[in-house]
Amino acid sequence: MFLVTGATGGLGRRIVRLLREREMPVRAFVRLMSRYGELEHRGAEIFIGDLQHDKDIQKACKGVQYIISAHGSDGNAQSLDYRANIELIDQAKEVGVQYFVFTSVLGVDRGYEDSPVFKAKRAVERYLQASGLNYTILRPSGFASNLLPLAERFQQTGIYLLIGDPKSRTSIVSTDDLARIAVDSVSVERARNEIFSVGGPDILQRQDIPRIFSRIFNQEPIIINPPLLVFDGVRSVVGLLNPQAQTALGTLRTLLDNEFFCTPDEIQRLEAIFNIRMESLETYLRRYVES
Ligand SMILES: NC(=O)c1ccc[n+]([C@@H]2O[C@H](COP(=O)([O-])OP(=O)(O)OC[C@H]3O[C@@H](n4cnc5c(N)ncnc54)[C@H](OP(=O)(O)O)[C@@H]3O)[C@@H](O)[C@H]2O)c1
Repeated sequence: MFLVTGATGGLGRRIVRLLREREMPVRAFVRLMSRYGELEHRGAEIFIGDLQHDKDIQKACKGVQYIISAHGSDGNAQSLDYRANIELIDQAKEVGVQYFVFTSVLGVDRGYEDSPVFKAKRAVERYLQASGLNYTILRPSGFASNLLPLAERFQQTGIYLLIGDPKSRTSIVSTDDLARIAVDSVSVERARNEIFSVGGPDILQRQDIPRIFSRIFNQEPIIINPPLLVFDGVRSVVGLLNPQAQTALGTLRTLLDNEFFCTPDEIQRLEAIFNIRMESLETYLRRYVES
């Protein structure tokens, strides 16, 4: 039995689909008000709980052999990115789980002090590595699935909002490839107790994204490109009203102000070990937009 957290999220949903396509038993950890009908329909066992409650995590781990942690944090990194994963790892040890796959983030080891999510994920990586469990840690760059709503808006308006440096480099990853790598991690021998940077095959500049949209929709882009200073101003105002939100925005600030891309060597290693050809962003978007 696989336990997948974040099963209704962009990544988790794809992991559950793939496991069910392979007819593997899956327990999908979902919240009561989440949209989990599709997962149930595909034959996943639905576990309703809240990752902020240790008791729910303890119950969800019963009888599980594999855990894939793919949940996000809704701005609460301490409770969800950190505590919930620590509890999942403790429970995995308690019930004798065979394998733990953790979704971290590219650049997590660069010591970004302003990002609660990066700090939490790095601490969890260390805890997992010291746990004695079999593990794979995946450090993905930005997900291609995040761009689908932006592509839809672009199609309607031609507008693309690009905050910060348009030349900043990124290697957006196909969320479907990442899901496959997460699932295969438990069975690919060379993935055991390893850390992988996971990105798309191309190193793009952020300004390439509206250009790709433009090619797909055959429409000139209107790029709105405020400097990062504007974001900082908004963040300061938010901070006056809600200091917690200001802290949480530190992760977005970190993402906007830095480059997140995989080197060709990292992609080559990934493709060789997982026997996969990573999909380009343009192919991914065309596949969804044209279907
Ligand atoms: N998106 C990216 O570009 C990116 C890049 C690098 C790494 N990552 C990492 O990859 C993972 C997946 O990201 P994603 O974009 O697929 O996430 P997402 O779409 O934001 O989904 C987050 C998931 O976590 C669940 N969740 C949030 N709070 C919960 C709680 N208290 N109890 C139970 N479930 C809870 C959500 O459930 P609901 O449906 O109920 O909200 C949802 O299923 C995350 O760990 C993220 O940090 C993401």
